[in-house]
Amino acid sequence: MRMALLPGSFDPVTNGHLDIIRRAGKIFDRIIVAVAINDSKSALFSIEERKVHLEEICRDISNVEVISFPGLLLHAARDFGVTAVVRGLRAISDFEYEFQMAMMNRELDSSFETVFLMSSPEYSFVSSRMIKQIVRLGGDVSTFVPPVVAKALDEKKKSGEIE
Ligand code: PNS
Repeated sequence: MRMALLPGSFDPVTNGHLDIIRRAGKIFDRIIVAVAINDSKSALFSIEERKVHLEEICRDISNVEVISFPGLLLHAARDFGVTAVVRGLRAISDFEYEFQMAMMNRELDSSFETVFLMSSPEYSFVSSRMIKQIVRLGGDVSTFVPPVVAKALDEKKKSGEIE
């Protein structure tokens, strides 16, 4: 079975992420979407909230599972018996960081492969960071995120968690 891990912060998950998950699901037999637990990065949504969002939007994709992982991606991949990781690439600006990460992971484990999928043009400018900024400043992000995320962002804004 061809399996791949699709890791990320997903804070929050966007339509761009969903597009990459769907496309990866057609290439691999099984995709494990993996939410990184990163204590040093201050997140808007908790790991549990992000998992719930991902599970909700992936409900109709039969070969996708959602997990979270602490520590190194490499160790999570090993734990799941996976040697391929899928990452979406939006623009040249993503490339340097992604290249460094892919090379470092391969240096740490020579069997580790990173597969890049180019983002679809309509999502090439969508990022979680910008989504949060737009919401903070009172803009509408409903065309860039799944409905469950738009609703959750709205609730965070109303409760004052996004100022
Ligand atoms: O969505 P992001 O924030 O671009 O995802 C980055 C992520 C989570 C894939 C990356 O930070 C990661 O792999 N974190 C786990 C820790 C790790 O393995 N770091 C070394 C990578 S070389």
